[in-house]
Amino acid sequence: MEDVLIVVLRAVHILLGTLWFGFGMLAMLILHPAAERMGERGLTLLRLFYGYTRFGIAMPIVSIGTTLAGVILWLMRSDGLTDLVAFTSTGDLVMIVGAVAGLAAFGHGVAATGKYSEAFAKASIAYDENPSDENMTALKAAKTKLDLHGRISGWMMLVAIVCMTSARYLA
Ligand code: HEM
Repeated sequence: MEDVLIVVLRAVHILLGTLWFGFGMLAMLILHPAAERMGERGLTLLRLFYGYTRFGIAMPIVSIGTTLAGVILWLMRSDGLTDLVAFTSTGDLVMIVGAVAGLAAFGHGVAATGKYSEAFAKASIAYDENPSDENMTALKAAKTKLDLHGRISGWMMLVAIVCMTSARYLA
C-alpha cells in the first residue's frame, strides 16, 4: 500500500513540478521578453494573459501540489531528514540543495511573484474598465515588480529542477 502511495506521490510531484517549471519559464523566457520588444502592444499581451487566462489559478495549484507532494515524499523516503532512500550521499547533498531551492521558490512565489501577478491581473482588468492614467500607472508599477520577481522565482526553480533531475545516479 505504501509503495502505491509513493508511486502516486512521485508521479504527482514530477508532473506538477514540470508544469510549474514550464509555466514559469514560459512567462520568464517567452512572454515577458516578447512583451518588452512589443512596447504598448506587449503590455496589452501581458494584460490579456494575466488578466483573462487561468494562469493565476494554475500557478498556485501546481506550486502547492509540487511542494506538498515533495515534502511528504521526503518525510517518507528519508532517514533523519538528510539520508534519502535510493540516493548516494552526494545525491543526498544535491537533493538538499534542490529542495531548499524548491522551498525558496515556493515561499518567494507566495510572498512576491504570486502577489504581484495577482496585482497585475487586477490592475489589467481595472484598466480595461477605466483606462485612466492612474490605472496605467498602477499597471506599470505592478509589471516592474512582476518582471523582477518572476525572474527570481524562475532561477530558483531552475536550480531545483536541475538538482532534482540529476541527483539520482550520482556516485
Ligand atoms: C521547483 C520545484 C521542484 C521540482 C521541479 C522538482 C522536480 C523533481 C523531479 C523531476 C524529481 C524526480 C527525480 C528522480 O527521481 O530522479 C524529483 C524528486 C524528488 N523531489 Fe522534487 N522537485 C521540486 C521541489 C521539491 C521540494 C520542495 C521537495 C521537498 C522538500 C522535493 C522532494 C523530492 C523528493 C523527496 C524526490 C525523490 C522522490 C524519490 O524518492 O524517488 N522536491 N523532484
